[in-house]
Amino acid sequence: MRRIGIGLIGFGTVGQGVARLLSANAEMIAARLGATVALQRIALRDPARARNPSVESLGVPVTTDWRDVVDDRDVRVVCEVIGGLDPARELMMAAIRNGKHVVTANKHLLAEHGDEIFSAADNAGVEVHFEAAVAGGLPIIRTIREGLVADRIDALWGIVNGTSNFILTRMEQAGTAFADVLREAQAAGYAEADPTLDIEGIDAAHKIALLASLAFATRIRPGQVFTRGVSIVEAADLAWAARFGFRVKHLAIAKDHGDAIEVRVHPTLIPREWLLASVSGVLNAVYIRSRALGPSLYYGHGAGGDATAVALLGDIIDACRSLLAFRHAPARPTEVAPRPVREMGDVECRYYLRLACSDQPGVLARVAGALAAHDISIAEVVQERAADGQATLVLLTHRARERNMQAARGEIDRFDVVSQPARLLRIEE
Ligand SMILES: NC(=O)c1ccc[n+]([C@@H]2O[C@H](COP(=O)([O-])OP(=O)(O)OC[C@H]3O[C@@H](n4cnc5c(N)ncnc54)[C@H](OP(=O)(O)O)[C@@H]3O)[C@@H](O)[C@H]2O)c1
Repeated sequence: MRRIGIGLIGFGTVGQGVARLLSANAEMIAARLGATVALQRIALRDPARARNPSVESLGVPVTTDWRDVVDDRDVRVVCEVIGGLDPARELMMAAIRNGKHVVTANKHLLAEHGDEIFSAADNAGVEVHFEAAVAGGLPIIRTIREGLVADRIDALWGIVNGTSNFILTRMEQAGTAFADVLREAQAAGYAEADPTLDIEGIDAAHKIALLASLAFATRIRPGQVFTRGVSIVEAADLAWAARFGFRVKHLAIAKDHGDAIEVRVHPTLIPREWLLASVSGVLNAVYIRSRALGPSLYYGHGAGGDATAVALLGDIIDACRSLLAFRHAPARPTEVAPRPVREMGDVECRYYLRLACSDQPGVLARVAGALAAHDISIAEVVQERAADGQATLVLLTHRARERNMQAARGEIDRFDVVSQPARLLRIEE
């Protein structure tokens, strides 16, 4: 049986998961593929570090220089799982130049440098696979690229950052403050020591940029995604949302309006009965609305060594199939027609607004007046007395334009009767 050599660059959480899964299922994979998939060489940084599986048990040559992997003639597929931009970009480009197919879990790299990497791969006649870059083990890229290839996707909504979803779930369950839950998530290994990419929504923006590019056959860059993270949410917002029949989720949203694409990432109030509202903890889900199929939902583990390895090894096997069939099936987002991304100011949705204000006559009228002046109408309102002559005013609006809402919010924040900047979240129904 033919043997195909795989070069693994990075042997951390995900790299070890790939090695474990390949060891456990090597025979089954060989039977399904008609060829043996074998680790040929592994690159890591610290050879002394304990791993599961240990490198000794694998009997595979190990190096601390990734060039040894990309220059190895017997490595036909390079799997990059070191993360970050450098040297991941340099090694991917080197592997492509050397005629290797590449498989990666690196959304940050593809979102920032996808153009360069995909066009280099096209020129070299090799493939770039990246199923693991969005929603870990969930086959969402394959679903868009293959399962729904004949359908037209109108919109998708994703919970694609497990850390953010864990934080919101715990804040809601325990009524705990954001900072405390973040510490809990870090202790449990669900959040990085530097959590910025996750809690500021940047990781989700990278992922929705990739998903929207594929779904709408255009090229969306992360800088075009309106991005807010879970760090703007307070436990009180979750409790208020529940009183109105909503749950707050960190959503990545992309909609095709024909003439323009709408793409945004932010904490969002969604109806409690919506399927996405039940996605808890570190789990991920992507809800797609396509014209012929209608709604479909993809739900499961978006991170973790074993779950992510399922996607990576699936991609490795796909690349091996290409080698066996000598086919070249580009796995890149193809741009059919460039389309503008709709300015956030032009986006319309409903809003949740929470105000800390003086408990005195006329406050609600002034707030309502400012909203009305910007063409925003109130759907529901609750006022609750707080301590020291203060009150909390929570309003849900009907659909309004973001530009108008930001202008009204600016005016309301300047009212002398309003003691803190208004807290504003968007609603998706
Ligand atoms: N963790 C997840 O659940 C998950 C899910 C989806 C996608 N991803 C993506 O998968 C990628 C890897 O994540 P991870 O969690 O596995 O990271 P990780 O645990 O930090 O592992 C990174 C590995 O890369 C090695 N490495 C770093 N720089 C290197 C260099 N210059 N040369 C050779 N090896 C180097 C490290 O070596 P040492 O071990 O010797 O330090 C380590 O083995 C990232 O792009 C991440 O976004 C991760």
